[in-house]
Amino acid sequence: MLKLEAYLEARRETVEQALQRCLQFRDETASQQKIHDAMRYSVFAGGKRLRPILCMAAAAVSGGCETEVLPAACALELVHTYSLIHDDLPCMDDDDFRRGRLTSHKVFGEDMAVLAGDALLTLAFEVISRDQKDQPALAVLQAVRDLAQASGSEGMIGGQVMDILSENHALSQNELQQMDNLKTGALIRVSLKMGALLAGAAPDVVKALCRYGDAFGLAFQITDDILDAVGDSEKMGKMTGADVKQGKATYATALGLDRAGELAKHAVETAKAALKDIHGDTAVLEALADYVIKRES
Ligand code: IPE
Ligand code: IPE
Ligand code: MG
Ligand code: MG
Ligand code: MG
Repeated sequence: MLKLEAYLEARRETVEQALQRCLQFRDETASQQKIHDAMRYSVFAGGKRLRPILCMAAAAVSGGCETEVLPAACALELVHTYSLIHDDLPCMDDDDFRRGRLTSHKVFGEDMAVLAGDALLTLAFEVISRDQKDQPALAVLQAVRDLAQASGSEGMIGGQVMDILSENHALSQNELQQMDNLKTGALIRVSLKMGALLAGAAPDVVKALCRYGDAFGLAFQITDDILDAVGDSEKMGKMTGADVKQGKATYATALGLDRAGELAKHAVETAKAALKDIHGDTAVLEALADYVIKRES
């Protein structure tokens, strides 16, 4: 029997150490130290490291080595952490707590929080292009391009724009799905795709993992919306009730908690069904899909 908690804990530790190496800078000036402190504050605040773990799991199921995709895994976490810092800004979701701590702008000021986010985004591309060197250059180039696309206006940022424009507006279920596919799904999907591509997976395996990622991302964001309504803010490390307060269009606010829960369950089943097309051992990815809707943080 797979012990998911132990599996996650071991990967988190590996990712933690790799991230520490990414955020070590030599000969910092006083002003560089200020921005590096802000970057480290948000990265080392105890995130679940789900995107790096998905990337590593995708590499493993594709017959590759988990630790060989660590630079890509770290790049994903750096982009994700930047997105959280900016998501929390007063001009965005205006949140005071994240990962169990005061948000970046509360500690370092809005100016430094914006810059820390920017610097994490650019560091992500420095890390992947510098350290991902065990694979063919073309595969790394493809991964860089996929990460850029998933993070930008056709991916995560595109979804964040929809999220902001839809404040205090009702969205249809299709529109909600489109928004979540972008704001959360894009980075999750690309985590799997990068792991698979860098491990040299066959095209049908890459496709199956992308389908898994799409459904996983949807289940993940619906659960995030449900937890915002009924979760325990201590466990989540962020305030609950923020979506209603901000007039956010979410599955939970638009369809009610029961229907949102059903849709999340359905998405998990879709994710698991996609794994049927893969011949490797998919137990970890199956367990991760189940975990997405059972999690409390
Ligand atoms: C939170 O992501 C933001 C969303 C995309 C819903 P996570 O729940 O993965 O946050 P951390 O990384 O564990 O803090
Ligand atoms: C965040 O969605 C999506 C991002 C791209 C960061 P939310 O705004 O719901 O995330 P939380 O609830 O603040 O973590
Ligand atoms: Mg938001
Ligand atoms: Mg938010
Ligand atoms: Mg949320």
